[in-house]
Order: sequence, then structure tokens, then C-alpha cells
Amino acid sequence: MRRLDQILASLGYCSRSEARAFLKAHAVTLRGPGAALRDVSEKVRAADVLVDGEPLDHPDGILVVLNKPAGLVCSHDPRREGPNVYSLLPERWRARNPQVTSVGRLDKDTSGLILLTDRTALVHRLTSPKHKVPKVYRATVASPIPHEAVALFASGTLVLDGEKTPCLPARLRILNPNTAELVLTEGRYHQVRRMLASQGCEVVALHREKFGELDLEGIAPGTFRELPAGFFD
Ligand code: URA
Repeated sequence: MRRLDQILASLGYCSRSEARAFLKAHAVTLRGPGAALRDVSEKVRAADVLVDGEPLDHPDGILVVLNKPAGLVCSHDPRREGPNVYSLLPERWRARNPQVTSVGRLDKDTSGLILLTDRTALVHRLTSPKHKVPKVYRATVASPIPHEAVALFASGTLVLDGEKTPCLPARLRILNPNTAELVLTEGRYHQVRRMLASQGCEVVALHREKFGELDLEGIAPGTFRELPAGFFD
């Protein structure tokens, strides 16, 4: 049970200070007897609350697989970094607290699979180095990829510029001279671009195809598919 104003604010309906006015403007009731709730401090179960006859929007949390187009950032500050992936979500989701955020990040110029969620603990769990979720990338490079890179990446000895610890073993499959699939189980800054740059290859396009077992089948660029909030529990 939580205070009604806390519930409404956390799910993006209004701020806590606006909750009183929200109750005046909308029929906020409990399932069952249906009497209008008038007191913002009343303790209720989010699953029992109806707003204008409708259940609350995702009271147990949001978890989506988004197909990120290149050109959008995963950061939340549009003034500093430009348009972000959250602009593709329904407006009310963007007002939630905790806010919907990405599980790890993709660069602005990278497209593909990114998970978005407001379940903070899940973000920490899935991005923790302990978890080693395999992520599959497809990279297009400006010059042919040397075949020695396959063994080097697999060896777990490649140390990137400016770093001290080697990258974890990664699987590189050269699909054609300028295209490769790379499977990483960690997420260092610009990791795919930097690993390929270490082999003299500039990445000109990068797309994440998979995160663990999840892929983008049926999810057009710029759209998302919802997962049950407890999908990873
Ligand atoms: N590696 C990169 O270089 N960029 C990404 O966006 C993800 C992995």
C-alpha cells in the first residue's frame, strides 16, 4: 500500500503537488465499491486504482525492447546531447519516477536493440560485469578486417588504448571483408568501434542485433515491443 499521490506521481499522471487538482479533474476510484478517492494521502494498492474507469498505466513497471534508429542518444538531457530514445515512448512514460532509462547505452550513431526500463535494480543487474549478457553487433568497416583479429579478440588479451585490463574474450565472425559480427559480454565505452580500430578498421555503421536471447524480429526501427515487467526475474 502506498499513498495515492505517490502512486500517481511515480506513474507519470501528475506531480505530487498536482495530485489534489488531479483528483478534482478525474474520477479516481478503487475497483469494487467505486467510491471516488478524495484524499491524496490515502494508502491504496496501485493495482486497485482506476482513473476515469481505466486501470493505472503499468503499475508494476515498464520494460521494452526498442529498435533504436541512428541519430538518437540514450542520455536524458536533450539540450546537451540532442534528441533521445525516450522521445519514442508515450508521453506519460516519460514523466515516470523512477524514470525510464536504458540498460547500458548505444552511441548516437549506433542503431539496434536497446532495453528501456524504469526498474532501476534491473538496470544494475543486467549491466553488472558479473552478468556477462552476450550482445551481438553487426559492424560495417571502411577497410577489410584482418583475419588475425578473430584469434586476437577470442584470446582475451586485447588491451584497448588508455586501458589496463584486457577485453574479455569476444567472438568475431567475418561475414565479408567489410562486415563482421562481434559478440561481446561486457560493455566498455565505444567498445566495438575501439576493438575494430585497434585492427586498423574504422566502423562506418554499427547495429546491435541481440541482447541475450532477445532480438528485433518484428520491431521496426523507431518502435518497441513490451516485455512483462518481470521478464528477467
Ligand atoms: N560499441 C560501440 O562502439 N558502440 C556502441 O554503441 C555499442 C558498442
